[in-house]
Amino acid sequence: TRRTLLAGMLLSVFAVAGCGKKAEEPAASAASDAAPAVAQVAEYVVGTDASYAPFEFQNDQSQIVGFDIEVLSAVADKGGFKVKFVNTPWEGMFATLGQGDRDILSSAITITDERKQSMDFSEPYFEARQLIAVGKGVTDVKTFQDLKNKKVAVQTGTTGDEVVQKLLGKTSSSIKRFESMPLALKELETGGVDAAVGDNGVVINYVKNNPQHGMTTVEDLQSFAPEYYGFAVKKGNQELLDKVNAGIKAIKADGTYDQIFNKYFGTK
Ligand code: ARG
Repeated sequence: TRRTLLAGMLLSVFAVAGCGKKAEEPAASAASDAAPAVAQVAEYVVGTDASYAPFEFQNDQSQIVGFDIEVLSAVADKGGFKVKFVNTPWEGMFATLGQGDRDILSSAITITDERKQSMDFSEPYFEARQLIAVGKGVTDVKTFQDLKNKKVAVQTGTTGDEVVQKLLGKTSSSIKRFESMPLALKELETGGVDAAVGDNGVVINYVKNNPQHGMTTVEDLQSFAPEYYGFAVKKGNQELLDKVNAGIKAIKADGTYDQIFNKYFGTK
């Protein structure tokens, strides 16, 4: 019957899973041999806005890759769980945790007090800072203050958006908001704005890879405080948060984190 067939298929799946598990854990006891792999490894759905190179982006084969992807995958390995990355628009991303559509967010998300009210964050895994990109021919921007009478592009709802709001006013028509960081930087390329403000790693990467547009970057360590990226989980999901934090600790301790860091950013 179908039911027997299905049961048979499930049994063989368990058998295969059991083999894999045994190979990883040579010390498995006789008791666990008797009940093969009943406990499945949990797989978590991870939301990421994959338009944020080098942290999360799509490669030529449309696979989601990047620093955050490698870090969280390594964390999952150590934490004993699996992850499945799903491209997720930045806007509305935070709400997907509450709705249960995503279990983890891995998207270069800065840990802020405001965000902590609605979700829980892992230990920080990366330090960043806002950076200004200015367009070709814009020579009078030396500090963040110099953007006072300029048009500035940001990605909506990011910490870049927040700092520029503080300078220019929340409803200022000088702020042009875009749903992704590449769109904000495209606007700078084409001269629609004088500057763009965003996370340093992403801005540097973009400016470097698009030299034909003559954009440059302006650092302002006085105006921009360090920011720390964390992985986010649904508020109160302590069990998952503990697993993620244990994984972060493990990859920092055994050199895996440094290896990934060096691959993307060179030595510290
Ligand atoms: N770190 C900034 C923030 O948390 C920007 C993150 C945007 N991430 C992305 N994948 N688009 O607000």
